[in-house]
Amino acid sequence: MASVTFQRVCKVFSDGTTAVSELDLHVEDGRFVVLLGPSGCGKTTTLRLLAGLEDLTSGNILLDGSVVNDLEPKDRDLAMVFQNYALYPHMTVEKNLGFSLKLRGVKRAEIRRAVSDVAALLGLDDLLRRRPRALSGGQCQRVALGRAIIRKPCAFLFDEPLSNLDAKLRMDMRAELRALHKRLRTTSIYVTHDQAEAMTLGEQVAVMCDGHLQQYAEPLEVYDRPANRFVAGFVGTPTMNFVDGDLTGRGLSLTFECPLGRLPLPAGHAARLATHPERRVTLGIRPESLVLCPPAAGSHDTAAFPATVRMIEPLGDRCYMHLDAEQDVSLVAAADPHQQFVVGDVVPLGFDIRAAHFFETGPVGRNLSPAHANPLINYLPPRPIP
Ligand SMILES: Nc1ncnc2c1ncn2[C@@H]1O[C@H](COP(=O)(O)OP(=O)(O)OP(=O)(O)O)[C@@H](O)[C@H]1O
Ligand SMILES: [Mg+2]
Repeated sequence: MASVTFQRVCKVFSDGTTAVSELDLHVEDGRFVVLLGPSGCGKTTTLRLLAGLEDLTSGNILLDGSVVNDLEPKDRDLAMVFQNYALYPHMTVEKNLGFSLKLRGVKRAEIRRAVSDVAALLGLDDLLRRRPRALSGGQCQRVALGRAIIRKPCAFLFDEPLSNLDAKLRMDMRAELRALHKRLRTTSIYVTHDQAEAMTLGEQVAVMCDGHLQQYAEPLEVYDRPANRFVAGFVGTPTMNFVDGDLTGRGLSLTFECPLGRLPLPAGHAARLATHPERRVTLGIRPESLVLCPPAAGSHDTAAFPATVRMIEPLGDRCYMHLDAEQDVSLVAAADPHQQFVVGDVVPLGFDIRAAHFFETGPVGRNLSPAHANPLINYLPPRPIP
């Protein structure tokens, strides 16, 4: 096993496309780290650079503290698992599993033992004689995983390995991967654009956008204290609500004026925002922090305003209310599925300002909220409607 370090890694392709920019990332030995970001942000390129399948433009990649920039892929001792499984179609599962050991000249009896161990670990015992075309997607993925495990590499590199599977199987495989990592403790770097996958699998999550690392932290930290507006908007379903507005007032008595109203800021926010040079900022509030029928204004920290129901998405355990507030501000609130509002109703909506984030304007504007901001989540029971 090994630690993995990227030091100021850049990759510019020959056509001038910058895929990875100044990437600094350290993955401790035995950790499971997820690289998360939208399509085209440089996740696969980062893995391919690490595997030695692409040359670096600049920077260093280290395995266990040693620079491996010039090491051939086969000498890096890494195992990659891809989305398309890349199994050999003409070989049985048994042969697929044992192939890398055969190439290394391992004795037949030893290969048989290793294949049987991995097959038992992944529940493939009954499938050893089959060829890939006679397997389901989940079974193929398990064989691909087995082929990586059998090599006992110093790290696993996963590139969206579950995205061809249906939702239920994806959940099952996630749980299997988690259990497997607990047992093997092999350093793992897992690429996905699926934030739910990142949150459930990653011990740490590295969020990327346009080749740049945006935040590297534990999943809940990324959710509760997103470093910037991009991370705040990318992590979380439905996405965080954003409303632009202006800071008015002086010192610690600051007010945020936006289409939702004039919101006096609590001390923690005011202390941080008082020194911010720009007056224009963006408020961010999670759907689960918006409350229908908030407590009557009078509670100092509650913002309350009317909004019209545009659409209701019922999900069984909760529903998402799509709402239009003043001046064409669209909001989404997570609500109790048994709430009684219907499309067209004007509802009282609100949130506790202490749960809000404030960002610099722009797509990657920094989070200006206090580090200790408490993500208050409103699980208040719905009020009966008179
Ligand atoms: N060989 C190449 N030549 C030129 N540009 C490339 C090459 N490979 C990738 N790119 C570009 O580099 C950027 C990053 O690509 P990459 O495949 O790393 O993205 P990704 O995050 O893995 O995306 P996805 O989630 O769609 O797989 C993209 O703009 C892509 O078009
Ligand atoms: Mg990719």
